Amino acid sequence: MPLTIAIDGPAAAGKGTLAKRLAEHYSLPYLDTGLLYRAVGKLAHEQGIDLDDPEATGALAAKLDTSHLDDGSLRGREAGELASRVAVHPQVRNALIAFQKNFAARPDGAVLDGRDIGTVICPEARVKIFVTASPEVRARRRTDELVAKGRHVDYDTILAEVRERDTRDAGRATAPLKPADDAHLLDTSKMDIETAFRAACELIDRAA
Ligand code: DC
Repeated sequence: MPLTIAIDGPAAAGKGTLAKRLAEHYSLPYLDTGLLYRAVGKLAHEQGIDLDDPEATGALAAKLDTSHLDDGSLRGREAGELASRVAVHPQVRNALIAFQKNFAARPDGAVLDGRDIGTVICPEARVKIFVTASPEVRARRRTDELVAKGRHVDYDTILAEVRERDTRDAGRATAPLKPADDAHLLDTSKMDIETAFRAACELIDRAA
């Protein structure tokens, strides 16, 4: 049976780092689904399309070129904000479902991370992990990460962004951020990445 691993959780919880490590460890392909929404948000912004227009952003999502998701600029804060705004539209979400489901259906399995992987994209995933950490811890990690890259950011601004993103991602009507009923909760507030990785491996090995 393929090993499909669904990793969900709020912004800056460390999902991406964890998912990447797991994909390497289990030799599985990895999809960061946030990049799809980031790409749509960025295109809309560049083309002057209203981010609140469900039809126009949905049309962009429907013709998204998924072969260019490794563009580094998609990983920034601005793209994250644009992504969260276009991700509220069912038209955008629906247009991106087939690509994600196809990826998840690889014969050996796959690791996908996002907000609705365990609930919508892969409800049949062998293992579902919902990664959380308190908003304060996430904001602290994000601030430290950005400062280490030489950016001038302050903790309070980042904390406000984290909270705003949580509210929008969890509050939307379609596929909101929430743990699947059968997801394992992994609160990393007091864990470093190594500890979180080991805890996740234990959950996966038990389910395998
Ligand atoms: O995981 P991320 O920070 O790259 O995601 C950016 C935004 O994209 C996030 O705030 C909400 C949206 N998103 C989503 O709605 N569903 C997903 N599966 C992944 C991301």
